Amino acid sequence: QILILDFGSQYTQLIARRVRELDVYCEIHPYNNIPEITPDIKGVILSGSPCSVRDEGSPDVDLEQFRGKLPLLGVCYGSQLLAQKYGGNVTPSEIREYGRANLNFIDKHNDLFHEVSHGSQVWMSHGDTIKELPQGWEVISSTASVKVAAFKVPDEDTFGIQFHPEVTHSEEGKNVLRNFVVQICGCSQDWTSDVFIDATIDELKQKLGDDKVVMGLSGGVDSSVAATLIHRAIGDNLVCVFVDNGLLRKHEYEEVLDSYKHLGLNVIGVDAKQRFYDALAGKSDPEDKRKAIGNTFIEVFDDEAHKIQGVKWLGQGTIYPDVIESVSVNGPSATIKSHHNVGGLPDFMKLKVVEPLNTLFKDGVREVGRALQIPEIIIGRHPFPGPGLAIRVLGEVTPEKVSILQEVDHIFIQGLKDDNLYDEVWQAGAILLPVQSVGVMGDERTYEQVVALRAVTSVDGMTADWVHLPYEFLGKISNEIINKVKGVNRVVYDISSKPPATIEWE
Ligand code: XMP
Repeated sequence: QILILDFGSQYTQLIARRVRELDVYCEIHPYNNIPEITPDIKGVILSGSPCSVRDEGSPDVDLEQFRGKLPLLGVCYGSQLLAQKYGGNVTPSEIREYGRANLNFIDKHNDLFHEVSHGSQVWMSHGDTIKELPQGWEVISSTASVKVAAFKVPDEDTFGIQFHPEVTHSEEGKNVLRNFVVQICGCSQDWTSDVFIDATIDELKQKLGDDKVVMGLSGGVDSSVAATLIHRAIGDNLVCVFVDNGLLRKHEYEEVLDSYKHLGLNVIGVDAKQRFYDALAGKSDPEDKRKAIGNTFIEVFDDEAHKIQGVKWLGQGTIYPDVIESVSVNGPSATIKSHHNVGGLPDFMKLKVVEPLNTLFKDGVREVGRALQIPEIIIGRHPFPGPGLAIRVLGEVTPEKVSILQEVDHIFIQGLKDDNLYDEVWQAGAILLPVQSVGVMGDERTYEQVVALRAVTSVDGMTADWVHLPYEFLGKISNEIINKVKGVNRVVYDISSKPPATIEWE
């Protein structure tokens, strides 16, 4: 495997995803919490950082533990750290360099640049630059404005690159990473979904033995893939709970429950619609609504978990981005998102936790899901928020409003699927606005609800852009909604990006 040391760059996770795409396993660890260097670690990548190596107290690491012993690649800050620690000179760039540049000098004899073309486009994002390298170190690539775009230390596999090979704007960046990971570190490209599945099932068998596991399913990709893996390992000792909170999409409860049964999962469907509606009655503040839904879910799940005799484990669909320790750039303290081991939680939270997907990124989860032959209706699904349609009915939620929104949402989503637009969109949905507007239908004046349609592209939901859906499509969907859904006489399309807006309206 490859060890990636994180100095806090926004791109660190992207480096890991690119390495994984090469079918090579890698892990991200914070620079200030380095794991034991075991023989299976074949190379080390030092990430970028928002800090400057010139600042006092900037992230630092003892590089002697790797240098000359393992292949080492510094990216951006990582390369500056290498240069500076061994006697080079890092200075502020005269101009801050952000954006595209071209490698107009490449040392073609260097393994790092195998199959990288002269003039190749790369992505720069840095405020400092390496003015002078330590004595004897060689420049192996330059751009028009950056002399040391890449360097190598003679007689050892230590490299630094100023550009970001992990972002897609570095057109042959993937080749640079492949050259480092495969040619230079000698990693074999055999970390595939099938290998992951076999190893995980073996591990789960060992860990769980004859114990019982309970798991809440959401209909989403992560929990479904995690449940399927656990089920392959322990069969019906896994008991799944799928709750109808009355806030799902039209027909979603029946369809997803049906898919789970086809997958052979031992799944209990719980109709708790009324409990959720009761908990939401009179609440219109978004955070109050979220809390009411979260608490009700915990109560319902706890009730079900109590009915299962002798259950020892809680299965969860946690994925890698949720467990990576994120480096705090303001100090060495690392924070970790945690969702368990907190006192005062309901009984099921005190169970031991099993998380078979906690080393995978979302794309890896999808690949594993496909290899497990989980139906595309689950694997290819857009993300859907835990509180469901409740945060798309602005203001107080009632069953009647949810029902109107389900019809609108169904027309929109089905329309996207019928016109082959669904897979081009990261997430889509409809929002029921708390306003009425005047319309005319036949000879009648109407005064009815307004709905907004939202469709975005995104990578991880952190930033998003609205999708330029074809006018013809929007026109057709708007007509269909107004003609078919009683109580709606106006449709608008949300053209805000995130930031400054958010994806959801609440
Ligand atoms: P925002 O609205 O913050 O949404 O731009 C980003 C992503 O998060 C989802 N989302 C939620 N998911 N519980 C969830 O499980 C929530 O309370 C919640 N709020 C937003 C949203 O659908 C989008 O994918």
